[in-house]
Amino acid sequence: MAQRLSIHEFRAMKARREPIAMLTAYDYPTAKLLDEAGVPALLVGDSLGMAVLGYDSTLPVTLDDVIYHLRAVVRGAKRALVVGDMPFMTYQADPAEAMRNAGRLLSEGGAGAVKIEGGRWLAPTVARLVQAGIPVMGHLGLTPQSVHQLGGYKVQGKSHEDAERMIADARSLEEAGAFALVLEYVPAELARQITSALSIPTIGIGAGPFCDGQVQVINDLIGLEPDQPRRHAKVYAPVGEMIRDAARRYLREVQQGHFPTERESFGLASREAVAR
Ligand code: KIV
Repeated sequence: MAQRLSIHEFRAMKARREPIAMLTAYDYPTAKLLDEAGVPALLVGDSLGMAVLGYDSTLPVTLDDVIYHLRAVVRGAKRALVVGDMPFMTYQADPAEAMRNAGRLLSEGGAGAVKIEGGRWLAPTVARLVQAGIPVMGHLGLTPQSVHQLGGYKVQGKSHEDAERMIADARSLEEAGAFALVLEYVPAELARQITSALSIPTIGIGAGPFCDGQVQVINDLIGLEPDQPRRHAKVYAPVGEMIRDAARRYLREVQQGHFPTERESFGLASREAVAR
């Protein structure tokens, strides 16, 4: 059986200057396909709130939601490092609660690491989790769990002060023991500065080409929401349109009596043999 990628290999990839491609996944078949394609790291993000549960933000996602989807993804992916996102208010209130909840993502969900959103104020929590043997991925820039505080899904770190603050946040998360850092919606030049200031890998989304890796939401990559294209994403295959088209063709064929045919039926010599 293939060995699962570790956080140490993740760091080694930065040292080798090998770009890291990460994708979100929320279910067994998708995780299996992405793993077979060789994607080294999968994130069961709280983006599942929007991507699969139909919420309009990540805030309603629960720890049990993430655990449920994690278990399916871990069953599907044999080789990838699987990271579980910690939902809103499962780690912010206090480090002991963060520890219990992060522990559940590993013990019940099968995650190899957890991800939390926030800057240096979370460094003590990161340190406690890492001491307890729980690998932590940080997340700076646009942190969707703070959408109300940020006033929308906007690029972060545009002013000199905000950029300096983000660099200091990144350093303190690294010092606390985070093994990698997501940078979301950050100007490319700031992402470049953070990437060169850290020895842990930065994984960008809407953060330009200078990060050590990239992460994308699988729905965006395969155009599952064709009516909502995103500026930072590229549709590699229009699966959303293909699903809609397949459903329309199926509907038409059923309505016109063209499906199922003899080929898709058991023990049917000819269509006329069926008493309708
Ligand atoms: O929840 C998520 O999918 C994320 C990625 C966009 C990084 O946090």
